[in-house]
Amino acid sequence: MRTEKQSGLEGVVAASTRLSRVDGEAGQLILAGYAVEEIAPRARFEEMVHLLWYGRLPDAGELKKLTADLSSRRGLPVPTLALLREAAQNSLPAMDALRMAVGTLRLGRPESPEEDARTLIASFPTIVGAFWRLRNSLEPLQPRRDLTHVEYCLYQIFGGEVGKQRARGLATYLNTVCDHGLNASTFAARVIVSTHSDLISAVTGAIGALKGPLHGGAPGPALDMVFEIGTPERAEEVILSKLARGERLMGFGHRIYRARDPRADVLAAEAERFYATAGDRDLYALARGVERVALRVLAERKPGRRLDTNVEFYTALLLHGLGIPKELFTSTFAIARVAGWTAHCLEQLRDGRLIRPESEYIGPVGLRFESSAAGPN
Ligand code: COA
Repeated sequence: MRTEKQSGLEGVVAASTRLSRVDGEAGQLILAGYAVEEIAPRARFEEMVHLLWYGRLPDAGELKKLTADLSSRRGLPVPTLALLREAAQNSLPAMDALRMAVGTLRLGRPESPEEDARTLIASFPTIVGAFWRLRNSLEPLQPRRDLTHVEYCLYQIFGGEVGKQRARGLATYLNTVCDHGLNASTFAARVIVSTHSDLISAVTGAIGALKGPLHGGAPGPALDMVFEIGTPERAEEVILSKLARGERLMGFGHRIYRARDPRADVLAAEAERFYATAGDRDLYALARGVERVALRVLAERKPGRRLDTNVEFYTALLLHGLGIPKELFTSTFAIARVAGWTAHCLEQLRDGRLIRPESEYIGPVGLRFESSAAGPN
């Protein structure tokens, strides 16, 4: 069957999934049966992982078992730590360090899709935390088994006591963004594993796709814009000049959502709760003001486009409030999304077929070969 070519594969259905449904017109996200606003602010991250992998929430025994298993896999192979040290010395971006480190995770470990999935999820916080500490001339912390996944993420970066409110804030963030239909990085992972390659390879590719500013790289620049604006009165002037230069406003617009991104609402509510008692209230008020002006200006300058706030705007605000450094925003996104990537890979291996679309050739034909080399070789 031949179908029409769609620029950027927009509107093309390339997989069936039980993991998440993104309804762009209604502005709804369903995660394995649960509306994002229903489950994300309440669930433990381990519960989300179980839900995505096995299609249902765990009972108490299953949750305990999964939590213990993931916490037993937090240590990194010795060469992985050496690599992170080297990456930190070279001041590489955190996403590059994560991609390189993930490629080494097979060392000393048995291979199976489920083993890989568990090792990947458990290792991400250690990789990101160790790299960040090394970048800041601190030694990585020894893995701990007594913390939940979210507590452990915070512990790896900051050390010391984690704090319940902060842990809840991060859990809500990770749950909110753990899966999202066939986004670019998930598609990349599914394509790789559809060749019956392994999950480590698939997730390594997915990290590369997530890194780009049109996907997971947006929250850093979104926060930069708020800081650049600095005071509410400057919002309109700065935003207009960005648009005049042909720049995009980071944290706004979405390929699928033509209504407000429901994840933005979940994260906005979490940020509101968090900033009410901790963090910089003025920054929060400024960001809300910038959002209002941006939406008005986008509606005026891009009429008919329906450009609304996306998840990355509130990601930036919430993660900043939680104390996560801007340089780690995208890798924190990866700590969440690896749950979706691995679940999609397992689903693809179970039910999928080799993903191999066609291309339309638009180059010349019938050219005659004439070499400019002097000899035969
Ligand atoms: N700021 C300004 N204009 C924007 C915009 C933004 N954030 N997002 C889209 N537009 C405009 C484009 O300039 C284009 O206008 P034009 O037709 O007048 O040239 C139009 O809207 C359509 O853009 P297009 O690139 O076709 O939309 P898309 O569906 O491919 O893009 C995104 C989706 C997410 C890549 C895009 O909205 C974007 O770049 N947003 C900023 C980055 C971001 O926040 N990414 C995180 C996504 S969760």
